[in-house]
Formats: sequence, structure tokens, C-alpha cells
Amino acid sequence: MSKLWEKGAGAEDWVTRFTVGDDYRWDTLLLPYDVAGTRGHAWGLVQADVLSTQELVQIEESLDQLSEEIERGEVVVRPEDEDCHTVIENALTTRLGELGKKIHTGRSRNDQVLTALRLFLREQLVEIARRTAALAEILCGFGERYDGLLMPGYTHLQRAMPSTAGLWAMGYAELLAADVSALRHAFDQINVSPLGSAAGYSVPYLDLPREGVAARLGFTGMQVHATTVQLSRGKLELHAVHALVQVAATLNRLASDLVLFNTAEFGFVTLPAEYCTGSSIMPQKQNPDVLELARASYHRLLAEMQILLTLPANLPGGYHRDLQLTKEAAMRSTLLTLDLLEAMTRLLPGVTFDEARIREAVTPELFATADALRRVQLGVPFRDAYRQAAASLEEQEAPPADEALAAYRTVGSPGNVRPELVREKLRAHAAWIENESLRK
Ligand code: ARG
Repeated sequence: MSKLWEKGAGAEDWVTRFTVGDDYRWDTLLLPYDVAGTRGHAWGLVQADVLSTQELVQIEESLDQLSEEIERGEVVVRPEDEDCHTVIENALTTRLGELGKKIHTGRSRNDQVLTALRLFLREQLVEIARRTAALAEILCGFGERYDGLLMPGYTHLQRAMPSTAGLWAMGYAELLAADVSALRHAFDQINVSPLGSAAGYSVPYLDLPREGVAARLGFTGMQVHATTVQLSRGKLELHAVHALVQVAATLNRLASDLVLFNTAEFGFVTLPAEYCTGSSIMPQKQNPDVLELARASYHRLLAEMQILLTLPANLPGGYHRDLQLTKEAAMRSTLLTLDLLEAMTRLLPGVTFDEARIREAVTPELFATADALRRVQLGVPFRDAYRQAAASLEEQEAPPADEALAAYRTVGSPGNVRPELVREKLRAHAAWIENESLRK
């Protein structure tokens, strides 16, 4: 089938290959979302008296059929199709003849692609939020179980002060809960409808029910001014990818800790063997490749974010084909993040703590600060207490764990972790995640 914009002279194959690039693959993934957008638009065309209710029924039936074929993997976008929008319009015209030719009234691929992308990102962000929350919950479980297990806390990678394995885990749990908030914020930014802006300047004559269409597609509102829509391209993706980067940044450091703690030198944790890989030459090796690639995901996301940050900048207003590339950067980012979350969710529950090794690492000098603060309790000014503690470092002993932990008074310190406070934060997002998942 020919291109939508072809009016006679055929475009050269090379131009198609160059301008489509990899976009057709990403558009294959967008097909269901462009079908959803098309349903919304078709409904709007009835309100605008372009289609009759009977015609809408016919279009809906064709789209139902097409959806099933898409779900079965029977529909793909080929480079010569140019994009998913063309595939869908052509399918309607093949099936419905003259009626199919009406569907593009009052829309442009420019507002279509953004509608589909927003619908896609919305769904992905919710799934990513769900998995991020699940990971935080696994870490809360560690927090609960291991807050009695004294472990060194490090600064500069030097033993610094007593911590617990539970407190180590809760740091990541709490950050992930904050990352879920960032995902939700991104979701809210994305959840507005561009439909009706057409190529970026609205359309004359048609009274498109933009708000009604937005509501039917589950958007909380619409981008009011037509010119906003194309200016938001790159920015909306940036909201999403920035939130993903936050998740990946947290997991990057978690992975790094685990790789370090798993070394023979530390020996604090053992990684599940089924998530380690071997060496082709060294028979004894069990390598933490999964964690290393999980850690590297952060850097890959930054590269995608770099495109989003720079590509739209300095472009004059309105649509430019350059902007096509923001789509794949955003889509690749969500798929990458889902993979990252899957890796961590599979691996983390199998991590075991070597309690004896961890206890052994809790050496007396870790309690030097505690010694100084004990002297403060007796009325010595801190700087003097610090010097006294420094002078008696040699005699410093490690107290029994309960005693060491009993000295802490504030919430969130060793022996005082509060997984329930993090769970409360996660619960605040649970209804949103559930409601949005039901929409699917
Ligand atoms: N594939 C295009 C994109 O993602 C769709 C919009 C095409 N619009 C155009 N005027 N060529 O940007």
C-alpha cells in the first residue's frame, strides 16, 4: 500500500530507508496504542458530525479485528509502510473502503504519534512502578530480618561506624519508595491528551470534542493550545526517562554494594549461584555478571536521556523529523528498565548474608565514636571526649550487639529500622498502580 502522503511521484527507496531507520520496529510495538488513539479519535468524529454512529460501529469492529491480529503478532510495520499510523489507516481503508478514508479527518501523524507514545509510556510507568515497589518490599523484608545483625558502616570504603545489614537494606528500600513517587510524577506529566492539535496548529471547521476524547482515553486532561503539543515532544519523554534514571541510579549502587560484599575479601553475602556465570578458563569462577550489567543499565539510560536532553534543544517550534528519535530513546529506556527490575527482583531474594563473616568485620575501632559520645553523656564537651576516645583507641572493645544497638535512640538508626514507614509510602501509591493496571 502506498504512503499516506504520496500524491503521484514515488519516493525513492533510499529516502524511505533513511527516514524510517529503525522507527518501524518501535512503531510495531506502538500499534495497539495507536489503535486505542484511533478509537478515541473516531468517537470524536461522530460528535463532530464527520461520522455517523453506524459508521463508528463499523470502524470499531474493524479495529477489534485488527487488535486481535496485532495481539497474535500477525501485524508488523515494515519499513516500506513507514509507520504504525499508515498501517492502521491502510487496514481500515482495505476493510471499509470509502469509510476508512474518513478516519484521518482532523488528525495528523504528529498528534497521533504523541497520543500513542503517551499511552504506551503511561502503561510502562505503572508497570515499572509496580516492580520498583515490589523490590522495595523485598528490601523491607531484609530490613526486618537483619536489623539485629551488626555490620560495619563504611565511609571512603573504610570501616567507619556500626551499622546493621537491615539498615543497609532499608537505605535502598526508602530510596526506591521515593523513586516510585518520581515515576508517578512523570506519569501525571504524561497523562494529558495531545489529540486534536493535528499537525500542531489545530484544524479549521471541525468542532472536535477534545476533552471528551481525552477522557475516553483515560487522560486527566488535554494540552490546551495546539502549539504546546509539538513543543512537549522530548520533554514528556524526558519526564519518564528521568524517573527511570532515578530507579536505575538506586539500583546501580545496590548492585555495586552486592558485587563488593560478594568478593572473597568481604565475604558478607553469597549470590544465588543460578544468577552467576562462569569463566571459560578458570574453573572456580562464579561471576556476578547479572549485577554488573544491572549496574551498567544506569549508564545506558543516561545515554538515552542525553538524546532527549539535547535533540529538541535549538529546534524552532513545531514538528521536525529529528523528533522521531525521541520516541525510540524513550521506548528503549522503559524496556531496559523493566529488564533491570526483573534482574534485581530475581536475584535479590536469593542473596544470603554470611552472619559470621559480617560479625567478624565488626572490629573495636568502629565504636570509637560511641566511646566519645558515652563520655559526652557524662558531661565532657564533645571535642575533649573525641580526644580522650582517640587516646584510648588501643583499649577500645566491641560491645555485644544488643548493647551496641540499645545505645541508639533515634528512628532509622542501627537496631531502629522502620520498614513499616517505607511500606506506608509504598501503600500510598498502591491504589494508583492497581487502578491504572485495570485500565489495560
Ligand atoms: N514517525 C514520525 C515520528 O515519530 C511520525 C510523525 C511523522 N510526521 C511527519 N510530518 N513526517 O515523528
